[in-house]
Amino acid sequence: SSNGSTEEEETLAMVKPDGVLGNYTERIKNAVVESGFSIIRETVIQLDEHRASTFYVEHSSKSFFSSLVKYMTSGPVLVMILKKENAVADWRAIIGPTDARKAKITHPHSIRAMCGLNAEKNCVHGSDSLESARREISFFFGEISTAVGVHDEL
Ligand code: TYD
Ligand code: MG
Repeated sequence: SSNGSTEEEETLAMVKPDGVLGNYTERIKNAVVESGFSIIRETVIQLDEHRASTFYVEHSSKSFFSSLVKYMTSGPVLVMILKKENAVADWRAIIGPTDARKAKITHPHSIRAMCGLNAEKNCVHGSDSLESARREISFFFGEISTAVGVHDEL
């Protein structure tokens, strides 16, 4: 950045339908703040089939895809833009592995261990790369938000 301080990143976090319906939102947001993230934007939305399919388009040929879309449209989700240094990798580390059953064994303090059920109903999402984060932030919050993160290069 222009003042020589550490580079901050933004990542897209989501509390999935089972997390919202299971009343895990506050606990997850507490973990977000305690881990040093700033919540830049947040919104609660109900995904429809088209929107959920588009979000997970990279998985459209997988056997679990239709079940995943059904799950992701089963109730509202909370999406958040989280910001801090190394946000993408740090949020992935805090949520834990994809399969919540495995997370309970290998990463018992992770968010997915806390509120996830299995490889599908895993309670939370985190962007897997800076490129994914930009796409996903744009997907939910529009093009203007993606300009954040680029401003450091101006
Ligand atoms: P993936 O991108 O592999 O995991 P992550 O969310 O950790 O980046 O998969 C995307 C979502 O697809 C995952 O969060 C839940 C669902 N999914 C299944 O339903 N079954 C599976 O076997 C896998 C691997 C994923
Ligand atoms: Mg992924």
